[in-house]
Amino acid sequence: MQEKTNNYKNELHSICTYLAMFPHNIPHEYIKKYTNKGDIVYDPFSGRGTTILESLLLERKAIGNDLAPLAYVLTRAKTINDNLNKIIKRVNKLKKEYDQWKNINKIDLNNKDFKDVKYFYSENNLNQLFFLREKIGKNYKKLDKINNFILAIALGLMHGQIRKDNSTIYFSISMPNGYSMSPNYVKNYKNKYNLILPETNIFEQIIDRVLVKLKNNKINNLKLESKIFNKDALKSKEFIRKEKPKLIFTSPPYLNAVNYVEQNWLRYWLLGFNKEENKNIKLDDKHSKEKYKNFLKNFIVEMEKILDQNGKLIIVIGDLKNKKIKIEEIIKEIILNIKNLKISEEIKKEKINLKLSRQMGKSKEGKLINYDWYFIIEKKEE
Ligand SMILES: C[S@@+](CC[C@H](N)C(=O)[O-])C[C@H]1O[C@@H](n2cnc3c(N)ncnc32)[C@H](O)[C@@H]1O
Repeated sequence: MQEKTNNYKNELHSICTYLAMFPHNIPHEYIKKYTNKGDIVYDPFSGRGTTILESLLLERKAIGNDLAPLAYVLTRAKTINDNLNKIIKRVNKLKKEYDQWKNINKIDLNNKDFKDVKYFYSENNLNQLFFLREKIGKNYKKLDKINNFILAIALGLMHGQIRKDNSTIYFSISMPNGYSMSPNYVKNYKNKYNLILPETNIFEQIIDRVLVKLKNNKINNLKLESKIFNKDALKSKEFIRKEKPKLIFTSPPYLNAVNYVEQNWLRYWLLGFNKEENKNIKLDDKHSKEKYKNFLKNFIVEMEKILDQNGKLIIVIGDLKNKKIKIEEIIKEIILNIKNLKISEEIKKEKINLKLSRQMGKSKEGKLINYDWYFIIEKKEE
């Protein structure tokens, strides 16, 4: 059966790209190896929710968490099921509401809300996006699953390449899908080449995409149990009080490799943030070496508090070529100093270079990873 092979990739994985995301078959393999149906799997730095979706497809209970608002919305979207008709109905309702709204509201491109974003979209599309931002984007913290799913779909379509035949599924001028370009660069380019902004109907594009992602999707027939949080992973014990994960499978931010908010500023605009406000979202993605070691230590100590006595904590983490820190030594030393934990199997070191390098583009060559390490950690017997 197709679903049984590691190469089967569920459509929901690619709702929206994410910097440093897992290839889906990596969590799949480890979830299958270390857990059984019904066991709890936790990813404290869930990103776009790769571990969460693979856990649910394998009929495990999934707990996801990410402090970044974008990651929270994308991870939650992976827990949708059996709602296709309701989602389409809701998008159609939003479309109708917009048609009334636009008769009364006209956006002013000189307003600070549009300062950076206006170079990327036509005025008509900006109007639609602004409506979506006001209606659901800004409320990302308290949306029901249906609105959250629609928002995740829109986030995925915010920008990407226009094909050679001029067709596109994206709302923006032709640009990378993986990260947001600088407004100044695009402004100058646009003036120089007299770039025409694409014109589309955002609501119809969303419906087409929802159909591609959910029609005949295996996930529609699954009984799903999940909880998704938007908190600091280092305080996991505060929100995961009773559950004891059998597997914690995760990839923390690498040392100063990605700026998860700034590099995604266009998607954050749809969530109600302006470029300046993005600085207020504090993640553990830009530390000095010493602070980074401390962050890893505190994280592992926190995971020990919630891990099942017979569970495994698997940390996937990369060594960056130009950072000169030896991640193997750091993790080994941390584990040695935690009374209850030991490294349970030989550490796996793989030259993957996929997760970061592919998405970061050639200009970041100096930051490429040497290796991705897999540390498999367990509790010592009591
Ligand atoms: C390497 S990425 C995880 C990618 C994920 N494995 C995937 O497949 O998409 C690391 C994540 O850690 C998140 N993060 C950074 N600091 C955090 C914190 N203190 N608590 C929770 N999440 C945090 C970032 O927002 C980012 O999404």
